[in-house]
Amino acid sequence: MKPQAALLTALLACTAIGAQAQEKVLNLYSARHYQTDEALYANFTKQTGIKINRIEGKEDELLERIRNEGANSPADVLLTVDAARLAAAHELGLFAPVKSKLLETRIPAYLRTDDWFSFSTRARVIVYNKAEVKAEQVQNYEDLANPALKGKFCSRSGSHPYNLSLMASVIAHDGEQKAESWARGLVSNFARTPKGGDTDQIKAVAAGECGVAIANSYYVARLMRSDKAEDKKVMEKVAVVWPNQKSGGTHINVSGGGMLKYAPNKAAAVKFLEYLASDEAQRYFADGNNEWPVVASVKVKNPALEALGPFKVDTLPVGSLAMYRAKAQVIFDRAGFR
Ligand SMILES: [Fe+2]
Repeated sequence: MKPQAALLTALLACTAIGAQAQEKVLNLYSARHYQTDEALYANFTKQTGIKINRIEGKEDELLERIRNEGANSPADVLLTVDAARLAAAHELGLFAPVKSKLLETRIPAYLRTDDWFSFSTRARVIVYNKAEVKAEQVQNYEDLANPALKGKFCSRSGSHPYNLSLMASVIAHDGEQKAESWARGLVSNFARTPKGGDTDQIKAVAAGECGVAIANSYYVARLMRSDKAEDKKVMEKVAVVWPNQKSGGTHINVSGGGMLKYAPNKAAAVKFLEYLASDEAQRYFADGNNEWPVVASVKVKNPALEALGPFKVDTLPVGSLAMYRAKAQVIFDRAGFR
């Protein structure tokens, strides 16, 4: 090769490498799939020039996939729902610690850990049939174990992360013994064997098959905002309680995410997490699923959430929910809450 040609080849090679390094991408594994997410991601690309490759999947499948891909995983960020699941990802060692002044300032301490962050919150509320149950009977999670409610309580499975996270909070507050007798009380109040999702419980309460149930707030909000006549009828029959307002506050759970240990694009990953805590992204993120932003100064205009009114939040650190997750399952199993 002539010296000139060699120089040209070398120059071309440099350009190619340069172009590759400059093609900024973020590989996002997400268990979220809401309409507002399109705008959420498009705005990030507009602001940063970083293109998002999104892989959507069910929560547990995504965890399994990242685990199987191991060090070869292209995933930079995992977004999913429920503190128990985020805790599982942490325990599997899937996340990398993120140090960010911005995230520390924007997200309250109880809603983050060293390696994953909450970006929206949802509450686990009590829903009761107004004709079957009196409001004063169901003001606290503890009340649901009261023998006066025998044959009236409905729930989804005790193995579901939403119930495991609630149980974890009960263990953290009241200790294992009280938590177990609560679980036994719930089981002896069952109107039926646990089945279905939260919306099924709300519908069963409206139909009178159950007197009272627990459900995530966004399922309630979704029914409240529905135009379907059948959903309107459901909401006419039921009332919603913010539990434990005179004690520790209502249990909340979160949507959140973190940067993955083998993320090939770590700088982009941190930028994306920081973007999710921005005012604009917070609004999209919360609104997509009738949730609340984690950044206190950000307000959403959601007619259903506004109608439900303000409430006292249980500010137990999300890390504690994680700590008692395994114990919660053992207690539910022992109590027969399957
Ligand atoms: Fe859900």
